[in-house]
Amino acid sequence: MRIAVLTGGGDCPGLNGAIKWVTKTALDPVLEKKRGFKCEVVGIREGWKGLVYVDPDDPESVARHTMHLDEEVVRTWDRYGGTNLGTSRTNPFNPQKDRSDQVIENIRKLGIDVIVAIGGEDTLGVAYKLHRRGVRTVGIPKTIDGDLVGTEYSLGFDSAVNVIMEEIDRLRTTAGSHNRIFVVETMGRHAGWLALHGGECSGAYIILIPEVPFTMERICELLQERRGREVQYSIIVVSEGAKVGGTQEFYKDDRVDEFGHRSLGGIAAYISDEIQKRTGLESRYVNLSHLQRGGSPSARDRLMARWFGIAAVDMIVNEDFGRMVSFLHGEITTVPMKEVIDRLRLVDVDKYYDVERYNGKRTIL
Ligand code: F6P
Repeated sequence: MRIAVLTGGGDCPGLNGAIKWVTKTALDPVLEKKRGFKCEVVGIREGWKGLVYVDPDDPESVARHTMHLDEEVVRTWDRYGGTNLGTSRTNPFNPQKDRSDQVIENIRKLGIDVIVAIGGEDTLGVAYKLHRRGVRTVGIPKTIDGDLVGTEYSLGFDSAVNVIMEEIDRLRTTAGSHNRIFVVETMGRHAGWLALHGGECSGAYIILIPEVPFTMERICELLQERRGREVQYSIIVVSEGAKVGGTQEFYKDDRVDEFGHRSLGGIAAYISDEIQKRTGLESRYVNLSHLQRGGSPSARDRLMARWFGIAAVDMIVNEDFGRMVSFLHGEITTVPMKEVIDRLRLVDVDKYYDVERYNGKRTIL
């Protein structure tokens, strides 16, 4: 059984751990005896791009786009962030230039029996389309945004929340010394999970999420209400995808990736300027940007990467293709990839968000 592993979309801590545990589980000598067949693991470099550009007839090209994986190679990988296989946002089904036939041909020529795709909705969308065309695929969920449906955990989320919390802890000392407002921009294109959980565990005064458009008037009101009470500074956490009511998101530039996404960014700067203009309160902003995807994986990401990697191999052994590993109600399980794509797991506003206070709810039961 020749298993190929790839990582697609934005990198994050936890990917290397998942690759390691797919490899170790597939090659485990004890399990091998029980299964009655041997596995081999190959890494595909830079996500789907590796399968688009590899020339299976050219050994040099195969060496450039793929990587032999064994227990010795992956031994230390789970300690490190990023992805040692590299990643890309290449879409073989890009409507402007469909390269899916080429990819299917390359998979066949490379002798790949099954692909483990580790990624978010875009990467798993490709895995699902390939599955429909007869390629055996299984998925492992990854997204720091936490917006994948069908699972309550996706790799990278916990490490990113920890970065947000640590950076806000740092900002508090300087915000306090200067009596300033700090507006902190997090990732979170469609869903506010990162801002909400990052803001809640850091005790942010205001949290703004894409699911609930906000007004500057209300933000200023909340800040004025707090003046003279408790502390002299405030932390506002805002998702990159949050919107002022009646307007659209802030975009960094006009570029569109192969999955049709534009880069978001700039909302914290806007809010900070407006606060200063409207209230006279001194305000600064920080965009945490890719720091949230950097560094080494948290304990939770290491553990989930291990469990997800092991489960992916279980799925292969059970011939459970076209499905994604998932974490639901505290258990590792699997869901059909079909149910995961073209949908988003957004914050349940009624349950978790206070639309008056712009913060997490203060009732929980
Ligand atoms: O993977 C999703 C995400 O984390 C989004 O929150 C963000 O908009 C995007 O990645 C940015 O990715 P990049 O700048 O690496 O393309």
